[in-house]
Parts: sequence; C-alpha cells; structure tokens
Amino acid sequence: MLILGIESSCDETAAAVVEDCTNLRADIIASQAMEHREYGGVVPELASRRHCENILPTVQAALDKAGVTVNDLDGIAVTYTPGLIGALLVGVNFAKGLALAANKPIIPVHHMTGHIAANYLAHPELKPPYLCLVVSGGHTMLVEVVGYTEFRILGTTRDDAAGECFDKCARVLGYPYPGGVQIDKAAQTGDPKKYPLPHPRVAGSELDCSFSGLKTAVINMVHHAEQKQEEIDRASMAASLQHTVAEILTAKTELAAAQTGYTTIAMAGGVSANSGLRGAMEAMCQKHGYQLYMPPLSLCGDNGAMIACQGSYNFLAGMRGDLTLNAYATGTAIGEMRVDASAALKV
Ligand code: KG4
Ligand code: ZN
Repeated sequence: MLILGIESSCDETAAAVVEDCTNLRADIIASQAMEHREYGGVVPELASRRHCENILPTVQAALDKAGVTVNDLDGIAVTYTPGLIGALLVGVNFAKGLALAANKPIIPVHHMTGHIAANYLAHPELKPPYLCLVVSGGHTMLVEVVGYTEFRILGTTRDDAAGECFDKCARVLGYPYPGGVQIDKAAQTGDPKKYPLPHPRVAGSELDCSFSGLKTAVINMVHHAEQKQEEIDRASMAASLQHTVAEILTAKTELAAAQTGYTTIAMAGGVSANSGLRGAMEAMCQKHGYQLYMPPLSLCGDNGAMIACQGSYNFLAGMRGDLTLNAYATGTAIGEMRVDASAALKV
C-alpha cells in the first residue's frame, strides 16, 4: 500500500510517500521559515503564495525520490485542518486536482493526528492504546490514543499553546522566529532557577493547563528590567521558561497516566523537540517504569511523512474525502472526520 501525504497547514510545504503505513520511502520539506523570520512570525498570505509555488515541485520530488508515479499510489492524503486557512486550501485543492486526474481516493487528515503518527514511523512497535502529550505551536493536549483513528482528549490548554508561549517569549527576549528552538539553544547555558516563574493552575480540570499567565510573567519581567535599565540574563530567562514549561507538561502527563493507568506514553508536535521537555519526560517515565516514545527531531515539526502515515491508517479505516472536500482553520476536533467536509456546495 502506497500513500502520498501532503502538508501545507503553516509555513512548510511538505510531501512524502509511505509504504504499508510506516515504511518511509521519501520525505521532502520546503520550509519558508527563513522568509517569515524577517517579519517576526508567519505572514499568512505570503505562506499561501509560497505553497502555490512549491507544492508541485515538492510532490514531484517526493514521488521521484520514492521511485513511483501517481498511478502507483493507493491514495492521496492531505492535511485539511487545523491551520492557516489560505495555506491549507492550497494543499487540499492540489490534492483534489491530483486525485481527480489520477482517479485516486483522497484521504483527509487532521494535522494533530499526523503529529501523533510521526511516532509510528520511528517506532513501528508502538501500538494504541496509549497516552500522548501533543504540543505544537497552536495546540497543547493530552490525548488518549484509543486506536489508530480514534482519539479522546483528556486535557487541553485553556488559552495559549506551549509553542506559542515559547515563541512570544523568544520574541520579547529578542530571538528570531521561530523562537522555540532559540529558547532551547539559549537555555543550554542559562540557570533554570534564576527567574522563578508561576505554575498557573486551572480551575475545573486537573488535566487542563494554561500558558498565557506564564507568557505574561516573562514579558512583564523583561519590560520591568528594561524600564529600570537593568540587563536581563537572556540565557537564564530562556532556561527558566523552558524548565517551567517542561515541569508543567510533565506533571500533567504524570497525572493523566496515574488517572488512566496507561504505562505507554508518547510525545508529539513541534515542541516535543524541546530538549528540556524530552529530558523531564524521560526522567518521569523512568521513575515510574513507563515506556516513552518520542519522534526523532526530524519528525517533530511539520512534515509530509506524518500525514502519509496517518493517511494510511485513515485509508485502512475507510475514511475518504471527495472532490468537495474543504479546509477548516479551526473547530475540528482531533480525529473527527467533519461530516460536512465533503458535502459543501453540492450544486
Ligand atoms: O508542530 P509544529 O511544527 O507546528 C504546529 O503545528 O504548530 O510546532 C511549531 C512549534 C513552534 O511554536 C516552535 O517554536 C516550537 O514548535 N518548537 C520548539 C522547538 N522546536 C520547535 N519549542 C521549543 N523547543 C524546541 N526545540
Ligand atoms: Zn504541526
């Protein structure tokens, strides 16, 4: 079974070919990150335009590298939600055109389920059910992976995602976009105890979290220091932030594991590349004897391989889109196949 995966939800145009769910035959990423750096963050219209330019060569390169043609494929998987709408639409419409021309099934993939699936590529022995901490630029969730295509959210952020918190704090500390990795680098030489930061609590659900208070605390400390013309120790602020985020996320995961009884734990999403978080999760899992799975750094950020992999499982589960498939910026629950996704504009 050969599945092509197409990803265009943010600032990476990516395509990959996967054989039998987990055998990665080709993985091509055209990143726009350096272009957006100039503006301090992703400029949505610019992202859409670059996807338009890059999508055909990226898909062609993935097919060529895999040594296959469109005719050899069993299906075309594409990220249809969540993300920047103008960016998603490029991938969805390209996938539909290709599916129509080659008479192949189209397989809609929820971007966050793709992040989770990145683990199967690196660790095919990982099998549901298990608990997964999903942390990206837009999402922070504790997910019960009930099956390859069945998910239950146990906890989520009430406000900012962990990645957003890293990115905004990085910006105020003067680090370039994308900030998370800069915080990680700077933290290596800083003192994580130098700046005590709050561990926000959320009323109602013990497994929910909140990162906007933490972000505001960092921003306020930096601004107060500026007003008093004091020098902020950037590396130590980065280390303190990273340490605090890692502590919060690890504690929530530990609690979720205790409540559900899962002893197999995975991490997914761009922030799962963070060295402080990886170390803290490793220590927690070692303490309890839990088995921990993390994607390699190359598969933590957005890529086509994870979409092709999750697309393969969706394909096996019979999930199909049709040529009316639409894209959705938000509002689609993880793993949910939107009933109206392929039913819009029936004329
Ligand atoms: O999953 P992803 O590539 O895109 C989304 O789906 O959002 O995640 C991007 C996020 C950004 O906030 C980025 O700063 C963060 O992941 N990130 C990191 C690291 N590498 C990427 N955050 C902390 N430490 C890192 N090493
Ligand atoms: Zn992502």
